[in-house]
Amino acid sequence: MSSENAKSINQSSGERESFKSSFGLLAAAIGSAVGLGNIWRFPYITGKYGGAAFILVYLICVAAIGIPIMLAEFLVGRQSKKDAINSFKELVPGSKWYISGVLGVLAAFMILAFYGVIAGWTLEYIVKSFGNQFAGLGAEEIGKMFSDFVTNPIRPVIWQVIFMAITGIVVATGVEKGIEKYSKLLVPLLLVIVIILDIRAVTLSGGKAGLDFLFKPDFSKITGEAILAALGHSFFSLSLGMGIMITYGSYIPKEEGLGKTSIKVAISDTLIALLAGIAIFPVVFAFGIAPNSGPGLVFITLPNVFAQMPGGYAFSILFFLLLGLAALTSTMSLLEVVVSYTIEKFNMDRKKAVAICTLLITVLGVFASLSNGPLSGEVFFGKNFFDFLDYLTANYFLTIAAFITSLFVGWKLDKKIIKNQLTNEGTINAGYMGIFKFMIKFIAPIAIIIVFLAGIGVI
Ligand code: PHE
Repeated sequence: MSSENAKSINQSSGERESFKSSFGLLAAAIGSAVGLGNIWRFPYITGKYGGAAFILVYLICVAAIGIPIMLAEFLVGRQSKKDAINSFKELVPGSKWYISGVLGVLAAFMILAFYGVIAGWTLEYIVKSFGNQFAGLGAEEIGKMFSDFVTNPIRPVIWQVIFMAITGIVVATGVEKGIEKYSKLLVPLLLVIVIILDIRAVTLSGGKAGLDFLFKPDFSKITGEAILAALGHSFFSLSLGMGIMITYGSYIPKEEGLGKTSIKVAISDTLIALLAGIAIFPVVFAFGIAPNSGPGLVFITLPNVFAQMPGGYAFSILFFLLLGLAALTSTMSLLEVVVSYTIEKFNMDRKKAVAICTLLITVLGVFASLSNGPLSGEVFFGKNFFDFLDYLTANYFLTIAAFITSLFVGWKLDKKIIKNQLTNEGTINAGYMGIFKFMIKFIAPIAIIIVFLAGIGVI
């Protein structure tokens, strides 16, 4: 998760190195943001909440709330040079603001539990791709292949455990440095593959209905819950509300413009999500798949394209491989959040902390995985355990943590600090500062409260 040039994130004390190049910093932040959230989660919740109108709300959330919160996290990190919890303690000693960081650690724990399950699915699909198993199958058979797989009590769990073990090994041994170096290659490559899939998807006959679904808003579909889901997903996808961008902020060199960086990360992340939507929804309509198929959507739609496109064999391998790697850069960052907290809190050795955290998260994840099959049933507020974790973390934990961060930066943090951080001690122009202060002080917290109350049905 950290930059190849940065020290490992758990070192919250002592001299901090920083990102040497602005590209290294961008690649690291984008690497954390881009993951299953863009390609798996964004399309499936867009399908669930009805398409274009949801996307419009999502874009507003990213621009009006996501970017200011990201900027707020970056500046808290660069000012304090500390991690998610200690940065608050450093900036306002003796206060309770650090609770936002504690929520973030809890959120990371629960997100990683179900995220690891989906990441495991990508491994199964890499193997299926190598075995050319989609060739010659129709949409129905591909759908059945997916449901047979996820309801199987053993296979998804094995893949999940393998994926979590890989994540644990990476975080324990610090081979992140190697992985990050080549994750600079990974995100651009993923982008290229998605664009190729887009071209295939939009040229499918019957695909146009998919584009209409994505771009012709039907505002009658917008409910309070849909708006809360859009807001929660903007935090999820931008990796906000968990202190990850605080930690990155602590590594950003002082010459780097924080405003520009936030906008670049947000635009890249959003672009990849939209392109993933364009690759998926024309296929959904062309093949008569239900847009609200839920978490399986990408695994049910894209194999249909691979089965029918020239070079589909190679593309399917490459796509699922890249998706798995993009997931790995995100699981690493999630595990790192939990591990660095554990190390500090319990004064524990790093390897031991990794082993314990990975084990606990994996066990929770096994229940999430089984809730798609043998342990299914809508037992948690009308949802199975998997959907419950997914819904709870994005819509509640991240949203509340982001709310606290906006209050902290908007109302508590010394204005001089904000000014110094945004203008790099007065050396660059930050014409947007007035707007930023207004957004973080009023718009973000008020919007979050209203959306939150509407989403849980209070208003
Ligand atoms: N942003 C990542 C994604 O979209 C998920 C993630 C969330 C990673 C929070 C780290 C922290 O897949």
